[in-house]
Amino acid sequence: MNPNPDPKRLVVAITGASGAVYARRLIQLVVAAGVETHLVISPLGQRLLHDELGLEGMGGNSANLAQLAELPEGSPSPANLVVHPFRDVGASIASGSFRHDGMVVIPCSSNTLGCIASGMAQNLVHRAAHVTLKERRKLVLVHREMPLSLIDIRNMEAVTEAGAVVCPAQPGFYMMPQTIGDLVDFVVARVLDLVGIDHTLAVRWGEAKAEDRGARVEQER
Ligand SMILES: Cc1cc2nc3c(=O)[nH]c(=O)nc-3n(C[C@H](O)[C@H](O)[C@H](O)COP(=O)(O)O)c2cc1C
Repeated sequence: MNPNPDPKRLVVAITGASGAVYARRLIQLVVAAGVETHLVISPLGQRLLHDELGLEGMGGNSANLAQLAELPEGSPSPANLVVHPFRDVGASIASGSFRHDGMVVIPCSSNTLGCIASGMAQNLVHRAAHVTLKERRKLVLVHREMPLSLIDIRNMEAVTEAGAVVCPAQPGFYMMPQTIGDLVDFVVARVLDLVGIDHTLAVRWGEAKAEDRGARVEQER
């Protein structure tokens, strides 16, 4: 990825839905792009980072922040990645006066979706999301659950009416993915597009090289 010529400021929340790998890939790309990244992780989000990726101590441990950003072993914590405590509703990102270019909840649990839809703000994830909506900034919820209850569907309707974008963690297969990384990139690329951060992930149908697609179709036969 090219360093971003126009550095941005992004809020990222990781909650307790499956798909911690989406969060790690997003963090890796935005940190590498020079985006000032403000991170908050729910307790269940921390558990998923541990259970699915083997990451521990994400409350502010610098070594693990470097790991989350997929920097080489021994790297210091990236200067443009700041972690805020989950319970600190007095953190900068809890205030509308803190300007940013968008907030992404990735992955977003049904619990967090429901709390945002109802306007609850008892922790920093909910509060930062609430503030993002009230300030009419971009809020992207990478929801992961299946199947959906009517409650989930109604909550999605409510947050969409309030200005959020529900972007399900639901990769397409038309680009002939070969690896789990391809599937993850498909979702993360859409998120980056939604918050206006440049990337060079090869996920655009119209821009895929015809010969590459042909070769992949041959491989499938
Ligand atoms: C291993 C594991 C996987 C889970 N996966 C999901 C999921 O994919 N989607 C979801 O909505 N909840 C999932 N949950 C349940 C949420 O973690 C739970 O509802 C929790 O209260 C969410 O809290 P949070 O929104 O503050 O992170 C999972 C829980 C565990 C322990």
